[in-house]
Amino acid sequence: MKNIILCGFMGCGKSTIGKILSEKTKRPFIDMDRYIEKKTNMTVSEIFEKYGEEKFREIESGVCFELSQRRGIIIASGGGTLTFQKNIDILNKTGRIVFIDVKYEILCERLRHDTKRPLLQVENRDEKIREMLNKRTPIYKGASSVYVDGNFASGYVADIILSILR
Ligand code: S3P
Repeated sequence: MKNIILCGFMGCGKSTIGKILSEKTKRPFIDMDRYIEKKTNMTVSEIFEKYGEEKFREIESGVCFELSQRRGIIIASGGGTLTFQKNIDILNKTGRIVFIDVKYEILCERLRHDTKRPLLQVENRDEKIREMLNKRTPIYKGASSVYVDGNFASGYVADIILSILR
């Protein structure tokens, strides 16, 4: 049984949609950021603050490898996970990577009050989102084999994903 790996920008709904998919398919759900937090006993912000982004990326790749040993699970990746070729290669072998594409304006709205994503704790958040989104969108598209328009309610997006994968 293949894994379902959700990818896309911060705030695109990977975790929410992953939970819904898990309920609908009765498959286990793993949120990579929460998995990393449990494993390290630190929050993502604390890891960035104490050890820097590079260390976080190292831990993240290790977790990709760990999860690649499992099958039949639903994984919500972090927004940066599938921008690294080695992570794409590892996870691609285990199942289908689904890109949830959400437009800039909606992402900005959802991320406006965020305090938990270290990369967004900058003065001009919207500009940072635009810059990262422009850079990452082609990478997400290249990494994934399923594309879904994520500009709808989470339950509806989950149903679209299931109908594509079935
Ligand atoms: C990141 C996204 C976050 C988290 C970390 C870095 C990124 O995950 O992994 O803050 O580089 O886009 P979410 O997409 O779940 O917010």
